[in-house]
Amino acid sequence: MMKKETLTRALRTAVIAATLSAAAGLAHAHGDVTPQAVDTSALKPIGGDWLEKNPYRKNGDAIRIGDSAFSQNCARCHGIGAVSGGIAPDLRNLPAGDEGDEFFIARIRHGVTRNGAVYMPPFEGTLTQEAMWAIRAWLETVHVD
Ligand code: HEC
Repeated sequence: MMKKETLTRALRTAVIAATLSAAAGLAHAHGDVTPQAVDTSALKPIGGDWLEKNPYRKNGDAIRIGDSAFSQNCARCHGIGAVSGGIAPDLRNLPAGDEGDEFFIARIRHGVTRNGAVYMPPFEGTLTQEAMWAIRAWLETVHVD
């Protein structure tokens, strides 16, 4: 049986190690984003023009596809199930409905770079527009006010 003090120290060390490795993963992700293919063949194709409103809102196929696309491409920063661990904003708080669509699509297409530092990589060219709106359709199912 470990003494309480030793146990507390062991736990603290484990937490620090986990935080550091998450930060290293983030730094790596900034420079080297591996595109994750998202199969959107179950969805009606959107075509070339960028939309400002989600054509797949409440679409069951889109929600299922978006759930998995989020896990593969976004969760490492925004958290599993979109529950933020503090590295990036909690996307459950994005405004729901048409109101939040334009902001969402701009962010995911272009990412966020400030003073030369990439906070979030752009996904245009990596994810299709179909995959992006599918993610948005799923995000709205976990929305909190
Ligand atoms: C490398 C980490 C990283 C990845 C991967 C990432 N993001 Fe982000 N994202 C961020 C950070 C950090 C911010 C906050 C940027 C800032 O300071 O404005 C952000 C901001 C956002 C915002 C704006 C939120 C707000 O309230 O300002 C949206 C929307 C968003 N991300 C969606 C996504 C989606 C969808 C994906 C997956 C396709 C994704 N992000 C992948 C790090 C990431």
